[in-house]
Amino acid sequence: MKYNFDEIIDRKTTNSKKWNPKLYQTIFNGHTDLLPLWVADMDFKVAEPILDSMRKVIDHGVLGYTLPDEEYYNSIIQWNRRRKNCSVEKDWIVYTNGVVPAISLIIQNFTNSGDNILIQTPVYPPFKLIPEGCGRNVILNPLVDNAGYYTMNFEDFEKKIVDNNIKLFILCNPHNPVGRVWKKEELEKIANICLKHNVFIISDEIHSDLIFKESTFTSFLNLDKKFFNKLFICTAPTKTFNIAGTQTSLIFIPNKDLKDKFQSYLSNIRMETPNSFGIEGVKAGYLYGEEWLEQVIEYLDSNRHFIKTFLEEKLPEINYHLPEGTYLAWIDFSKILKDEDMLEFFEKKAKIAIDYGTWFGEEGSGYIRLNFACPRAVLEQALNNIFNAISNLK
Ligand SMILES: Cc1ncc(COP(=O)(O)O)c(C=O)c1O
Repeated sequence: MKYNFDEIIDRKTTNSKKWNPKLYQTIFNGHTDLLPLWVADMDFKVAEPILDSMRKVIDHGVLGYTLPDEEYYNSIIQWNRRRKNCSVEKDWIVYTNGVVPAISLIIQNFTNSGDNILIQTPVYPPFKLIPEGCGRNVILNPLVDNAGYYTMNFEDFEKKIVDNNIKLFILCNPHNPVGRVWKKEELEKIANICLKHNVFIISDEIHSDLIFKESTFTSFLNLDKKFFNKLFICTAPTKTFNIAGTQTSLIFIPNKDLKDKFQSYLSNIRMETPNSFGIEGVKAGYLYGEEWLEQVIEYLDSNRHFIKTFLEEKLPEINYHLPEGTYLAWIDFSKILKDEDMLEFFEKKAKIAIDYGTWFGEEGSGYIRLNFACPRAVLEQALNNIFNAISNLK
């Protein structure tokens, strides 16, 4: 491997959200001495070509407002064609400062106060918090947990849409936290139901470049064009290349009227000018970051298997199904821990910062989400901490 993902990079000296003890005061009850495996970014150094292109911006010395150029659009179009077999048109592409802000703005522009929005729990917490914060109601279509392998309940999906006059559905693909990469047949089923009942779809595909070898990612754009009319694809190079701090995301809106409405809203609120470093991240990542990405996926693949082997050998009562995509392990502790004992266990005994399953909805009860995008030594230490803490419980 050209890149050394075993390297331990000290992030404590930065303002990293994941590593900053100030946040731990509130989120982890004042326990500031935890090993962080929570917030979804990677502890790996960014690919050299991306750093180089950002350095060029710095070396130029003037950091004024930036516009996207042709290379930016071409890099996005080529990446999606080459890696995902998707045809993205230049006119569909909208820049926003993050996927979560985009979801919020789409909700505010295309639904009304009091409208009902459908999500599939357990799911990334902003999917519930953002619509609620915008004065919308959130209706749940819980995923079905088959011993850690999650599937969709299509019957309930359609029933919830009809019973609640759902206006918009937010899909997570690949799914955070359960790690599913939804199959084409699954997506076609929900797409048909949404089309039948005239429901807007936000397909959050931010993790779509992080797919393990046995799975194939299907974008909503790989489906029939008849499903494109009320569709917003939210994606970004930020998870892919570990540049989340640039807050740069790409929204693809194939329907011209929706795209124009959204773009003019962004213009009105002066939110259309991209981040100078984000633009470089898009271009250098999509044009020259593929080698790094392939290697990071290989490293993540070995980390996800490392967790599996460790748990099978040492803690067989803990259930963990390998994720098909993302760098998030969704691990079931319900046989040994009650939800009310989780905080004490992880913060006082195992001394690791993870995301508690119930943060993702009550369907996450008994689970934790562990971010394994870290050097193997850190992962090993975290798992050993868990093993030792469990041994002390017995
Ligand atoms: C599914 C999903 N969507 C969006 C985000 C955040 O996106 P952004 O930083 O672009 O707002 C995350 C981050 O973890 C995520 O997991």
